[in-house]
Amino acid sequence: MAALNLNNSSNLVLILDFGSQYTHLITRRIRSLSVLSLCISGTSPLSSITSLNPRVIILSGGPHSVHSADSPPTFPDGFLDYVQSNGIHVLGICYGLQLLVQKLGGAVKPGVAQEYGRMEISVERGGGLFEAAGEKQTVWMSHGDEAVYLPDGFHVTARSQQGSVAAIESVERRLYGLQYHPEVTHSPRGMETLRRFLFNVCGVTGDWKMQDVMEEEIKVIKDMVGPNDHVICALSGGVDSAVAATLVHRAIGDRLHCIFVDNGLLRYKERERVMSTFQSDLHLPVTCVDASDQFLTKLKGVVDPEVKRKIIGKEFINIFDDFAHDLEQKLGERPGFLVQGTLYPDVIESCPPPGSGKTHSHTIKSHHNVGGLPKDMKLKLIEPLKLLFKDEVRQLGRILNVPEAFVKRHPFPGPGLAVRVLGDVTEGNALDILRQVDEIFIQSIKDAGLYDSIWQAFAVFLPVRTVGVQGDQRTHSYVVALRAVTSEDGMTADWYYFEHKFLDDVARKICNSVRGVNRVVQDITSKPPSTIEWE
Ligand code: XMP
Repeated sequence: MAALNLNNSSNLVLILDFGSQYTHLITRRIRSLSVLSLCISGTSPLSSITSLNPRVIILSGGPHSVHSADSPPTFPDGFLDYVQSNGIHVLGICYGLQLLVQKLGGAVKPGVAQEYGRMEISVERGGGLFEAAGEKQTVWMSHGDEAVYLPDGFHVTARSQQGSVAAIESVERRLYGLQYHPEVTHSPRGMETLRRFLFNVCGVTGDWKMQDVMEEEIKVIKDMVGPNDHVICALSGGVDSAVAATLVHRAIGDRLHCIFVDNGLLRYKERERVMSTFQSDLHLPVTCVDASDQFLTKLKGVVDPEVKRKIIGKEFINIFDDFAHDLEQKLGERPGFLVQGTLYPDVIESCPPPGSGKTHSHTIKSHHNVGGLPKDMKLKLIEPLKLLFKDEVRQLGRILNVPEAFVKRHPFPGPGLAVRVLGDVTEGNALDILRQVDEIFIQSIKDAGLYDSIWQAFAVFLPVRTVGVQGDQRTHSYVVALRAVTSEDGMTADWYYFEHKFLDDVARKICNSVRGVNRVVQDITSKPPSTIEWE
């Protein structure tokens, strides 16, 4: 795997994840301060922590109680000795604070009044995480337990209105704790607190720049591939594969061979649009393969979403194999590497929620790697974006001169419209109907200037027919759904509030111009409990 050379970062902030829904947000907030931050499971072995050589460690929140009977997660044996003897600063957030208190001989008890939501805290001691005693701040609390007795050498630095411990420190031992979540926007001064902790208390330098990431990645890829080997890359039309390919192209030039597969599941005019960007703007060497018949024949009659995904994944692999074989004939040697646009959220290890029965293993959302790669694959992987979040990939894309319209494109799933036509994708002209509806919806969003405020918008074809009346005629036509969400990284999402007038115009336009549709509905569920895609 090509990845950033972490030895170059003497300012790494490592987050030990104990399962909070906000853990990724802490990572992102810290990176937004130009400090490299990584996240690993809170129960990782000590060797995983020491090998990263962190400057600062943050213990995340989590849904557990330090008292629960089913062995709540904790940092590994030897952790406290390691941080103390290496001068590492530690900040415990919520469950992380309680863990510190309990492990060091203090006491954590179920709170008399559980504190959830916005609260005011009063600072009792300045100079560390806070500027001065007497300050008041609104913060976001989410805890049932509370620290009632602090270990030796600790002081309370802030308390909630109810008098509970809201922040603690032991300056001498470089240990700090916040009972609330500074990373969420509901704690308006939370970023200021994180900044004070990192820069003033820990003396970290904000020297993590995307330009350096790019230069470092190019060097890593050059070293990895060597002077003669060839690399293949499948372009999906999305920003991740385009940025990954552009980066590899910078490193090794035309020894990169890209393939773009038209699987018959693409959006309206997608093939023409992306091929023109790849060739004219990015100057990528790319072969376009029209395999729509091959995919659609295999998908005929298939309704199970997972089976659809597997079929699509398998066909992709077959096509990549043929492509590699053709290249071998042409070049006289088989390419040795495959580029993938895997992102950080797909590889982050998390502590599983209590009672989930899951292990702490390294989990990859298999569906996000088109069908998975064959176990006996001989190609070595280059995953240059493996440590980046989507917005960071966009930033990198801009530095690499990937056109803005492309950089800002909404994500599009690997299995394409197959997960947006519910049921059998080959049924009637479902795919064509969906393409037309989707194009009207997206164009209307762009015309209204809303595209960049939305993480992802698309239409979904429902294989359901309803009665309507169009031009005095009774119709029995299909329903389509519109989905638009806001999100930070696709892991959680809120549905987007359009103005009624906008929705009214779009629905009218769709029913007036797309034959076969007489009803439009909007999806108003967030993720969770729904997912962004419908299948
Ligand atoms: P879900 O539906 O899981 O989607 O909430 C989260 C994000 O991932 C995208 N997605 C996929 N991307 N292959 C992909 O490459 C897939 O099978 C896949 N399924 C979902 C989805 O569009 C959203 O951005």
